[in-house]
Amino acid sequence: MSDPVHQLYQSRVYPAMSHPSSDPAVTAVAAKLAGLDIPTPSCANILEIGCASGHNLLPLAARWPESRFVGIDFSAAAIEEAQQSATLAGLGNIEFIHRDLQDYDPGEDSFDFIIAHGVYSWVPQPTRQRLLDFCAENLSHEGVATISYNTLPGWSLRQSLVDLTRLLENRPAAETIGPDHERILAFLATAAGTHTPYARYLTGVLHDMFGKGSSVLPFDDFAPINEPCTFLEFAAHAGRSGLRYLGEGCLQDNFPPSLAPGAEESLQPLASDPLALQQAIDVLTNRTFRNSLLCRADAPVQTRITSATALHFSVRCPHRLEGTRVVDASGNELVNLDHPIALAFFSALADTSPQSVPMQEILEIMAERLGDQFDPTHSLPVIARMVMDSARQNLILLRYEPLRFESAVPAAPNLGTLRLLAAKQGKPLVDVYHTPCTLDEGRLRISMAMDGSRSIEELAALSSSFMPNLDFHGWLAHLAARGMFV
Ligand SMILES: C[S@@+](CC[C@H](N)C(=O)[O-])C[C@H]1O[C@@H](n2cnc3c(N)ncnc32)[C@H](O)[C@@H]1O
Repeated sequence: MSDPVHQLYQSRVYPAMSHPSSDPAVTAVAAKLAGLDIPTPSCANILEIGCASGHNLLPLAARWPESRFVGIDFSAAAIEEAQQSATLAGLGNIEFIHRDLQDYDPGEDSFDFIIAHGVYSWVPQPTRQRLLDFCAENLSHEGVATISYNTLPGWSLRQSLVDLTRLLENRPAAETIGPDHERILAFLATAAGTHTPYARYLTGVLHDMFGKGSSVLPFDDFAPINEPCTFLEFAAHAGRSGLRYLGEGCLQDNFPPSLAPGAEESLQPLASDPLALQQAIDVLTNRTFRNSLLCRADAPVQTRITSATALHFSVRCPHRLEGTRVVDASGNELVNLDHPIALAFFSALADTSPQSVPMQEILEIMAERLGDQFDPTHSLPVIARMVMDSARQNLILLRYEPLRFESAVPAAPNLGTLRLLAAKQGKPLVDVYHTPCTLDEGRLRISMAMDGSRSIEELAALSSSFMPNLDFHGWLAHLAARGMFV
């Protein structure tokens, strides 16, 4: 094959990753709030296009035994690895198919969720076209596709840095700076400095780029094809293929927290033109990447969704409550709660953390705490609006379904088949919320022993021989809080 994208994936192994933003438990919330009566992900047909070695899809198949999963990719080695992992994990509800998207015909099957992460901007134009046509032809009536892509104008600065790096690597300068992309980017960051707002911004971008590391850069910023587009171009392309833009896969990305406080109000004049509004947001925030939801153009989309819909989901708060302040992991104040209902809401979330529990359960806890102050007729609409606002501001995370797990460390920790397999293969461990956790070599070795056959004390002894400086018990508690143990 002469196509440079084929050549890249035949000559290098794409690093395994899971993408929480593509998790149907998350995207179904955004789709439902955009007005689509989306099928329940735990009982759905789910396809991933460009699934690589299945690291994103396998944990979902293990989570939802009633759903049927298909992953396709044109890399034979990646598909073989994915199939082996599925067999070792005893997953009978997932099929991996070695196929070029151009040649893939699922027959009578339609899909409730189609995921294509890291594909659209990184493939030749005919494949990009096929991707959207395929979604239009094979989404179920109320199904949703989650497609990620790089966006302009945000990406253009990165493109200039990629072009400059490529120029320098072919010049004598590379002999002193170093020939690889990471070192050239680091050199540029040092040269840019931090003495002006622009220098700080540019250095931040360069750090973000070389921070991706040599395993990711050749597939992303330095991929043989990387063609960003504006949001409006993407939406128009989707429209020509018979698809409709619904919103972003993660609710909070519709109005990114990087917008100025009160931006939703100042942008109100654009509210009647949601596509222009989203394009304006990209320019205002210099957004470089989107993970957008598309449905069929003929799908029934309700336009009058009220915030009461939010009360049907499950919820958790990833932050800490300190008195009346919600603070992030570094102790920065995110919000100060000055209303008893808001305080009761975040207290109930603190009590149920790290689980994601149904809003109904949170309401019961709140009613008990607030006593007479909780009058369902008046309080529910206020709470529904607060839930929506908090979700948009990333203060809370909504899920389509609850997620309950044992967050205490078990007597004989067991990571379960898929995570043990990942540890053996040196891949990130995927936590219960589908977030990847990359471990160094020492932690990977200890993880491999967490198969349920050893006590905490035996594992601690192993840890002190491999990694004497590791706070083993702290790390174990961290793994348990992320729902890593089965
Ligand atoms: C950047 S990787 C993304 C992998 C994974 N979805 C992720 O985001 O972690 C792109 C994947 O798409 C696959 N791919 C690219 N073009 C394809 C095509 N025409 N048909 C099938 N797979 C393709 C590649 O083999 C590769 O695994």
